[in-house]
Amino acid sequence: MRKKIVAANWKMNMNLDKGHALVAAILKGLPELNSDNQVVIAPPFINIQHTVYQVEDVPHVYVAGQNCFTEAAGAYTGEVAASMLKDAGAEYVILGHSERREYFGETDAVLAKKTDQALDSGLKVIFCCGEPLEIRDAGTQNDYVEAQLKAGVFHLHKHQLANVVIAYEPIWAIGTGRTASSQQAQDMHAHIRSLFAAQYGQPAADNLTILYGGSCKPSNAAELFACPDVDGGLIGGASLKADEFLGIVNAMIGA
Ligand code: 13P
Repeated sequence: MRKKIVAANWKMNMNLDKGHALVAAILKGLPELNSDNQVVIAPPFINIQHTVYQVEDVPHVYVAGQNCFTEAAGAYTGEVAASMLKDAGAEYVILGHSERREYFGETDAVLAKKTDQALDSGLKVIFCCGEPLEIRDAGTQNDYVEAQLKAGVFHLHKHQLANVVIAYEPIWAIGTGRTASSQQAQDMHAHIRSLFAAQYGQPAADNLTILYGGSCKPSNAAELFACPDVDGGLIGGASLKADEFLGIVNAMIGA
């Protein structure tokens, strides 16, 4: 059975004290997890190790980086290598978030290299895809997401897929309060799974965890997670408040 995951993407929020308090409150209210129901927390780089220390004794709670660099090491001032995230205790790295693509010019080719670095370093990858509003309005979102996946991850070998999670985040739903309907999410997730089935075979596609992201909150999480191809969520705004994040985690457990 494929894993369900609720992942918190803090983005550039939460200084050390606030992040510490948030993680403490989440751990206090956390329902029992198991290897099929996981929680991932992605703080800013500088607080990764601190968060790792906070969750290291809690089963099935993992820490993620929000990005890593394309190269393994060298004269790249200000960058963080995938192996450094791994050393710090991170289990996952989020790659290809639309904010990285838009504000930092990350192309599909760059993301393919980052994915390779991350997997080679022993990290698991949460690879983001998703279309802007004009593509959704034009009705070409399936082709758009297919192109992102082909360029970013379809060069991988089948055995590497066990360490890959896909996050579908329609850009028009990120931070806007406008969630994709459960039908829109299900349709895209089924499409993504069919692309993986065509590329890697049905069993590999059936094992792939596909998360939804974009204005996911406790009030809509249960309906989204009830969709057969939605395996959890990548949460932005609602991951910054313990009660809201826990509401979404509980929706995953109940799904
Ligand atoms: P929001 O949940 O704030 O819409 O953000 C989603 C997101 O970008 C998670 O990576």
